[in-house]
Amino acid sequence: MARLLQQPLVMECAGWKSYRLLDSGAGRKWESFGPHAFIRPEPQALWQPRAVDWPAAGEFIPGSDEDGGGRWKFTQSLPDEGWELAWNEVRFTARPTPFRHLQFFPDMAPVWDWMRLQLEGMDAAETLNLFGYTGLGTLALSRHGKVTHVDASKKSVAQARANAALSGMTGRPIRWLTDDAAKFTAREVRRGRRYDGIILDPPKFGRGPEGEVWRLEEHLPGLIADCAKLLDADSRFLFLTVYAVRMSSLAIAGLLAEALAALPGIIEHGDLAVREEGEGGRLLPTAIFARWSNPR
Ligand SMILES: C[S@@+](CC[C@H](N)C(=O)[O-])C[C@H]1O[C@@H](n2cnc3c(N)ncnc32)[C@H](O)[C@@H]1O
Repeated sequence: MARLLQQPLVMECAGWKSYRLLDSGAGRKWESFGPHAFIRPEPQALWQPRAVDWPAAGEFIPGSDEDGGGRWKFTQSLPDEGWELAWNEVRFTARPTPFRHLQFFPDMAPVWDWMRLQLEGMDAAETLNLFGYTGLGTLALSRHGKVTHVDASKKSVAQARANAALSGMTGRPIRWLTDDAAKFTAREVRRGRRYDGIILDPPKFGRGPEGEVWRLEEHLPGLIADCAKLLDADSRFLFLTVYAVRMSSLAIAGLLAEALAALPGIIEHGDLAVREEGEGGRLLPTAIFARWSNPR
């Protein structure tokens, strides 16, 4: 029976050459993405900024509604095709997107490290990345074997494949699938498939390629129940992140504890957070997580 450890954890992203949190406060954050800095909204930055001046190439001005909308206001010209960044051996293209992102989620860096730790010593592992976006997690996992990458957006899957080419990883055993995550997972259950590890990073609301509606609060329990059927006592991990919803990490940990009750191992939960640069750098929370691992 998987044991739920109640004490919440913080998985900290300390920043690296390609990404740094320079400052935050008053509902905004100032970040550098390699050579270019940007200002983006951050409702959780309730404190005051440390720096007076935030020189940046652009700022994302949020729309009226909390969940979306808004636009970039650029003060410097940027390369249209984006610019190359790296996380360890993974190389990828950064570029401002209409959804206030820069084509990757830097706060996922400690998650990529943690997953690789669970697969240590394995070179023929089978892993699944649901809602895989531009594929950094997929490329990070591909060091340990075969990865199935699923995302509803053709554009994101194309960018993920371009990142694989940039990283010299086109020869790696990766299945790039444009599909609805819940539908794909249910099909894998019917096929009796099994994975060593699963990561899922669902949005609050999304649509599959054929318009399938994804509402996190409504559909997550069913998806987690199906993911549990793709794991067994020899599997190594399941990692779930949740963004931008009013929910505690204890709640998603409880969901994992119910779904994975038949498996050994431990369930932990907490916050993903990014550490500001420099002395006295504060921790900015960005998402909640729950994770199952099966220590050897
Ligand atoms: C928060 S992003 C994932 C970020 C990713 N884990 C990463 O680290 O780069 C959410 C992704 O879910 C995808 N998505 C939305 N609805 C979906 C659905 N029904 N099935 C599959 N993917 C979906 C979006 O295209 C988007 O790429």
